[in-house]
Amino acid sequence: MKFNFRTSILLVLLFSFNSCESIPFFRDSFTSKITEFGSVPQIEGAKSKRDRYEFSGREIIISSDHPLASQAGMEVWKQGGNVVDVFSAASFAISVLRPHSTSLFGGGFAVVYLPSKGKWAYDFRERSPKKGTASFYVNEDGSVIPDKTLKGPYSAGVPGTVQGILQIQKQHGKLPLNAIIAPALRYARNGYSVYGDLATAISKTWPQMNPAMQKVFGIDNRAIREGELLIQEDLAKTLERIIENPENEFLDGETVRLVSGYYSEFQDFITTEDFKTYQVKTSDPLVSSVWGHTIFTMPPPSSGVHLVTMMNLYSEMQKRNTFPKGDVGEIIRITEAMRVSYRDRAELGGDPLFTTVPVTKLLSQTYAKEETNEIEKKVVSGSWPAVKEEEKKPESYNTTHISILDKDGNAVSTTQSVNGIFGGAEMVPGTGLVLNNTMDDFAVAPGVPNLYGLVGSKANAIEPGKTPLSSMSPSILLDAFGKTKMVIGAPGGSQIPTSIFNTLYRYLIQKQDLYESVSYPRIHHQFRPDRIFLDPEIKESYPQSDLPFYQVQYIRHRAKVFAVTREGDRLIGVSDPKGEGVPLGF
Ligand code: DON
Repeated sequence: MKFNFRTSILLVLLFSFNSCESIPFFRDSFTSKITEFGSVPQIEGAKSKRDRYEFSGREIIISSDHPLASQAGMEVWKQGGNVVDVFSAASFAISVLRPHSTSLFGGGFAVVYLPSKGKWAYDFRERSPKKGTASFYVNEDGSVIPDKTLKGPYSAGVPGTVQGILQIQKQHGKLPLNAIIAPALRYARNGYSVYGDLATAISKTWPQMNPAMQKVFGIDNRAIREGELLIQEDLAKTLERIIENPENEFLDGETVRLVSGYYSEFQDFITTEDFKTYQVKTSDPLVSSVWGHTIFTMPPPSSGVHLVTMMNLYSEMQKRNTFPKGDVGEIIRITEAMRVSYRDRAELGGDPLFTTVPVTKLLSQTYAKEETNEIEKKVVSGSWPAVKEEEKKPESYNTTHISILDKDGNAVSTTQSVNGIFGGAEMVPGTGLVLNNTMDDFAVAPGVPNLYGLVGSKANAIEPGKTPLSSMSPSILLDAFGKTKMVIGAPGGSQIPTSIFNTLYRYLIQKQDLYESVSYPRIHHQFRPDRIFLDPEIKESYPQSDLPFYQVQYIRHRAKVFAVTREGDRLIGVSDPKGEGVPLGF
C-alpha cells in the first residue's frame, strides 16, 4: 500500500524541487555536537526532506537516482522478479532517465550476492578500442592534445553496459527480457518531464552536441527545458532491437552497424570487431574483513581495494594513542587514510590484465601497520611536509548508482556511467545512444590529471583492449553473523571511495542512522592536490586555523550515496538528498 501511495505521489509531483521547508538535524562535529543546517529540496507528499529520501520496508528496497528507475525495479518485482530482475529493469530505465549520467553506450560494475547461490563481480566497463593507443592522444612533441579524451568520437571506449546487464540477467534473472525492458521502453517512447538537473546538463552541453544529439535534446533548435517532455524515439527502437536480438544486437546487430557507420567518418576508431571481441569480465568480488563486517567489493580496475585500505588504515591509527585527542585527531586519521589510499591508486591502479595491482598486500594488516608507522612519525614529530599549492580542476558530476536488497539478503550493488556529463557529448545517429568519454579515465600521460584531477602512472596508460582505472566501488557488507547488512555505492568521480568511506564511518563507527550517515557533511582527500576538502557546513567547526598542517578547502562534496541496510527485520533505503532519486520498496 505504502509503495502505491508513495509512487503515485512521486509520479504526479516529480521534481517540483522548489520550496525549502524542512530542516534536518546534523551533529556538527565528527563525534558529538548537534546543530541544524541546510535548505532542502521538497516534494509534495513528503513531510520532510528525510521523508522523501528515506524509505523502509520488509521485502525489498531499491535506492536509485530517479523515482521512475526505482519504480521500474518495483514493477518487475511485483511480477515475480528477483533482485537481479530489479537490477536489470532499473539499469535499462536509468539509462533512459539519466542520459547525462549513463547510457547504453557506457559501462559499469556490479557486485551480485545471492546467499543461496554465490557472489560475483561483473566488470562491464568500457575498454579501449584496438585503435586506442597513448600516442593517439598526444602531439608529436609529446604534449597532450587538448580535450581529445574528453569530447567527441575519440573520447569513447567500447561500451559494455548492454552486454553486462544481459549477461547478469541471463545468469540470475527470472523474467523474460521484454518484461525487464518494458519500463525503459515506455519512458523512452512516451517521454518524461525534464527535471532540473537534466535541464542544466542539456543546456550546458548543448553547444558541444552533434546534430543527432541536439535533435533529441532540443525543441525548435534550442535546448529542451525543465518541465518539457523528453521523448527518445531512436533509443526506444534500440531497446526494441535488444529485446528482439539480445544475443547479437551489440555484437553485430543493427546498432553496431549504425555505430560503425558513424565511426567511418572518424578513422574507424571503434569498429564492429571491437564490439565482437568485447567481453564482460566475471570474477569473485574482492572479500575482506573490516570494521566488524565482511565487505564484498569490486576488484581492480575498480577502487574497491583502495576503499578497504582506507578503512584498515583508519582502524590501525585508531589503535595508536599517539594521535591528537578529539576531532583534530579524527580528521588527521581520516585524511591520512585517504591520502595513502589515493596515492596507492595513483601509483598502482590500472587494469589487472595489464599491470599487477598488489591487492593482497594493500589489504593486509602488515601494510596498514607499516603505513601507519610512517604517518605516526609525521604526527609525533610535528614535522609535516610543506603544503603545496596545487590546482584542483572543477569536476563534472555524473554517473549513477543503484543499490538493491531483499529480505533474504539477496543484493545487487551497481555503478554505471558515461563518465563526464553527457560523456563525449555526441550521439550515434539513429541509435539514441550518447557516447561515453571514459577514455579520459586513463592517465593520458603520467602525472597529467584527468577530469577529476586524478593522476595516474604507466599502470593506467592507454593501451588497446585495456580497461581504464575507475573510482566506482560498488560494495555489499555482511554483518558478523554472515547476513547481508548493507548495499552501498555512489557516483561522484574521485569522491566515490571517500563518500562511501564517510557513510560507512558514520554508520558503523559513529553509529548514526543511515539517513544521517549519507547526509552528513563529508571530508575528502585524494592525494593530489594535497588538500582536504570539507563540506562548507562544517567550516566553523573546522577552521583552517585548527588544521595548520593541511590546506583546507570548503567546498560542497558532490558524490551521491545510494544505500540500503537491514536493521532487524526491516530494510531501510536512502537516496542521497543531494540527488533526484528515491528509495522504493515494500
Ligand atoms: O569510473 C570513474 O572513476 C569515473 N568514470 C566515474 C565518473 C563519475 O562518477 C562522475 N561523477 N559523478
